[in-house]
Amino acid sequence: MNRYLNLVILLLALVFVNCNRTEKAQINIIPKPERLYVSDRIVTLDADSRIVFEDPNPALRLIGEALADFIAGSSSFKPEVVPYSLAKSIENDIYLSMNLNDSTFGDEGYQIKSNNGQFISIQANTARGVFYGVQSLYQLFPAEAYDLNQNCQEWELPAITVSDKARFAYRGMHLDVSRHMFPVEFVKQYIDLLAMYKYNHLHWHLTDDQGWRIEIKAFPKLTEVGAWRNETLVGHGGVRPKVFDGQAYGGFYTQSEIREIVDYAALRYITIIPEIEMPGHASAALAAYPELGCTGGPYKVETSWGVFDDIFCTKEETFTFLEQVLDEVMDLFPSTYIHIGGDEAPKTRWKACKQCQQTIKSEGLADEHELQSWFIQRIEKYLNAHGRRIIGWDEILEGGLAPDATVMSWRGTAGGIAAAQMGHDAIMTPGSHCYFDHYQGDPAVEPLAIGGYTPLSKVYAYEPIPEELTEKQSKHILGAQANVWSEYLKNPEDITYMVLPRMAALSEVLWSPAKSREWENFYDRLPAHFQRYKALGLNYSLAVNQIKVEKILLADSVAGLNLKTEVPNGVIYYTTDGTAPDTLSARFLQPFDQSEITILKMQLYRNGQKVGDIQQRAISVSADK
Ligand code: ACM
Ligand code: ZN
Repeated sequence: MNRYLNLVILLLALVFVNCNRTEKAQINIIPKPERLYVSDRIVTLDADSRIVFEDPNPALRLIGEALADFIAGSSSFKPEVVPYSLAKSIENDIYLSMNLNDSTFGDEGYQIKSNNGQFISIQANTARGVFYGVQSLYQLFPAEAYDLNQNCQEWELPAITVSDKARFAYRGMHLDVSRHMFPVEFVKQYIDLLAMYKYNHLHWHLTDDQGWRIEIKAFPKLTEVGAWRNETLVGHGGVRPKVFDGQAYGGFYTQSEIREIVDYAALRYITIIPEIEMPGHASAALAAYPELGCTGGPYKVETSWGVFDDIFCTKEETFTFLEQVLDEVMDLFPSTYIHIGGDEAPKTRWKACKQCQQTIKSEGLADEHELQSWFIQRIEKYLNAHGRRIIGWDEILEGGLAPDATVMSWRGTAGGIAAAQMGHDAIMTPGSHCYFDHYQGDPAVEPLAIGGYTPLSKVYAYEPIPEELTEKQSKHILGAQANVWSEYLKNPEDITYMVLPRMAALSEVLWSPAKSREWENFYDRLPAHFQRYKALGLNYSLAVNQIKVEKILLADSVAGLNLKTEVPNGVIYYTTDGTAPDTLSARFLQPFDQSEITILKMQLYRNGQKVGDIQQRAISVSADK
């Protein structure tokens, strides 16, 4: 009986749960809208609310249905999606229209109005613009709305007015599925995150040395052989001796799965750019078809990370192969851009290969760098003839850039600058700010990563337009992208940990006006996003609140410790005797001698409030430097 009562109480609690805000709303939209006005009024959405779209317009209906599904997920009601011609009026409804008729908003901008708190209208010039308006609307809901266990009867949303548009046309996230592979459901979830932050490109890294992940019907061995490796390196690639796990690893996406993902992304206004790596990072393809290498093999699908000497030979057979692969790739991906890789292709094999040397001679090329350029240009011609354009990593500049190529600048910004100065388009993705496989917190307490240190504030401070460019050249910087290489990221939770919240920070770099960026203001909007990640069941990083403990040398080569926080107005108190630090403990003001210290305990404060829990580090006697 008791248990039954408990159940009834629980069910009642679920039915009548109050999901509304009590105090005046803080608006936490990321990326920050260009203009935002918050009124004191509230718009109430309940079982009588509808989503009214201007008809006839199938794209708006689809956006409306997705919005209705979102609301239904955590509500006791699902709004009806109705064309305006049938709805006749708008009261307590959400109205979607693409009759904004204001060219200053472009293709991606939108306006939200919450007329006197009666209804919400989202207007744009295009369905894409309406979609981004709806993404902002989602962020007016409290975190409970993202939790499928909720069953709210009504939602009170702050009545706001927004005018917004994108700063950069290319806003990208990348995903490496070769080093580790992720289920179709996760790729979709990743796409949802991109949509939430108004990204419009997913760069899908489908092939590499450690696995070929796309079904190609003309070459079944690519996935029968090339998708599988015998084992995988354990721990960091820099550690010797190398240790392997002895477990076969692999998998691939079927063409039908790929179509499903491409369609899923298209509904979210995201273009997927497939990457097929050439001429390097080709071990998996060569393991399947050894005749395409310079030595004839045998080759293996690689089991550790790095750059490998065996690359595609420049013989005719390779082009026949690649063209057939690209035919199927083009059939699967409607994207104008196809990424052809081009990075990290050692020239060792080409130097020793009779056929490659013959190509250099017969084509009148100076060296192997020009041979790589010739290779890429040949592929470019093929893709151009099919109405597509190439993107390549910045190595495609070496030996001469293909005439229509867009450069993805990853070894710093020099490649992007050179491309823009030559009148080519470029996408910035420098390792310094845009490699989300790098550490985001103190490596001492973070999960194993490839290296680097790219904390959230650094991503947020990134400026994609290099100072070296004139205004005209700057127009060639289409935008930027974060890369998520998966050597050390094995599971979906590892990926989300590395991108959340860094992809939120980059979204603001890419979408919001440059002058509106303010780190402290961004930091203040983050907790609402953390709550949403939690409601969605996503693993995310709180490293922004972590104290970075740096070993440094003080005067006279004394080993010292420096403590750093990126939290705005963050103040650190610490102890070295094992006791819990508080505001009566030593306050960190300058680096100090570490010689007597074995345990360091720290507490971060901001505006008089604790930020997170006590953080501690065991301090080893020897300084690292
Ligand atoms: C790259 O990180 N090799 C593009
Ligand atoms: Zn060769």
